[in-house]
Amino acid sequence: MYVKDAEAKVGERHELAGWVYRKRGSGGIIFIIIRDRSGTMQVAIKKDKVSEQAWKAANDASIESSIEVEGMVKKDERAPTGFELEAENFKLVHASEPFPITEYQSPELLLDYRHLWLRSQKMTKIMMARAYIFRYAREFMDKNGFFEISPPLITKAGGETGSSLFAVDYFGEKAYLTESSQLYAEAMVYSLEKVYSFAPSYRAEKSRTVKHLAEYWHLEPEAAYFDLDDNMKFQEKLVSSIARKLAKEHEDLIKFFNIEPSTLLDIRPPFPRITYEKAIEILNEKGSKLKWGDDFGVEEERLLTEDQKKPIFVHHWPREIKAFYMPDDPKDPRTVKCADMLAPHGHGEIIGGSERIWKLDELLEKMKMFGLNTENYKWYIDLRRYGSVPHAGFGMGMERVIKWLLNLDHIRDAIPFPRVINRVEP
Ligand code: 4AD
Ligand code: MG
Repeated sequence: MYVKDAEAKVGERHELAGWVYRKRGSGGIIFIIIRDRSGTMQVAIKKDKVSEQAWKAANDASIESSIEVEGMVKKDERAPTGFELEAENFKLVHASEPFPITEYQSPELLLDYRHLWLRSQKMTKIMMARAYIFRYAREFMDKNGFFEISPPLITKAGGETGSSLFAVDYFGEKAYLTESSQLYAEAMVYSLEKVYSFAPSYRAEKSRTVKHLAEYWHLEPEAAYFDLDDNMKFQEKLVSSIARKLAKEHEDLIKFFNIEPSTLLDIRPPFPRITYEKAIEILNEKGSKLKWGDDFGVEEERLLTEDQKKPIFVHHWPREIKAFYMPDDPKDPRTVKCADMLAPHGHGEIIGGSERIWKLDELLEKMKMFGLNTENYKWYIDLRRYGSVPHAGFGMGMERVIKWLLNLDHIRDAIPFPRVINRVEP
């Protein structure tokens, strides 16, 4: 059984396999708090109830040793969770060396020992929630008729901006780790029509912030004939579906993070939509000094979302500060047909998306405006030569979503082995 099943198994004999989380003893009795993936629970080993061998094993079991215990599940008010396993047999699978992490450690040390810190209750719960969030995202995409595709992660072209890329020595030739799989997803729209890639993206971000990773997981859907409105509607449904499923199916898990299920259940479409122009107005009323063409930083994102319960869209950004593949809106040619989704309470941008320029002339003109070398994008330009279709898509940063949904202080805790500017180990 798992620890979480204790209540249902009272009065029955079962086996628990796990690790020693805490231990104390006096005379003829040892109390071990055992930890398995589902939680922690007290195990009582009484000298007169177990074999000599089992008693010795329990004595030798140091913190973080792996153990197997068999015994009766009992209700016991004095036990931390109200349940206890009274051991009849005890096996020491592996006696742990003294565990290097003790109470009250600095965040830096916990990062150095990340491979061991992943066993903590906090990290265990986050990684479980992460797996559910990944699962629900994928389920939503599959259910809505999108095919998952596998993009290359090593690429030759300059990416979207050409900046912030990690270079790789590719058999003597210079290549890069991808910063986004979008351009490849676009190529596959011409056969599968609705696709998504779910893969890492790499950004050589020099910024040391609580929401930037150098390696993050990126969900990137792309759909033929979607326009900006379809794109936003789809994003709201996706985000709402993930948040609500997490709350419905894993109430205990989210309560561990002090999150009321209702706050996630209330995340339903539609999400508020404001134009970039309106956002600037709101921000300036709140004391910012922004002008047309300025991008938003952490502070602006916080000011815009501090009072929000749901994520908001900021759409129609100035063409100069968005990517080359975004089409101008003929209704306001200063802007492009794009939208970012910002999470509430300052967690920041979780999605960036747009329509894509699908006409050859328009694309070439825009690339010229951005000073991009068309040689580097030959295959991408080709897509606009042979039966091009209007399409749109977006990219959602999974760790940003996790950070927001679980209200984490730092994005590095949303991924098992974070890659940030000063850390590439363990
Ligand atoms: O806004 P971005 O840069 O957009 C793109 O890469 C598009 N090609 C996506 C697309 O349309 N297919 O990145 C998309 C999302 C951001 O909204 C953010 O959630 C996340 O990726 N993101 C990061 N997450 C963690 N660490 C970083 N350094 C991130 N940079 C972007
Ligand atoms: Mg963006």
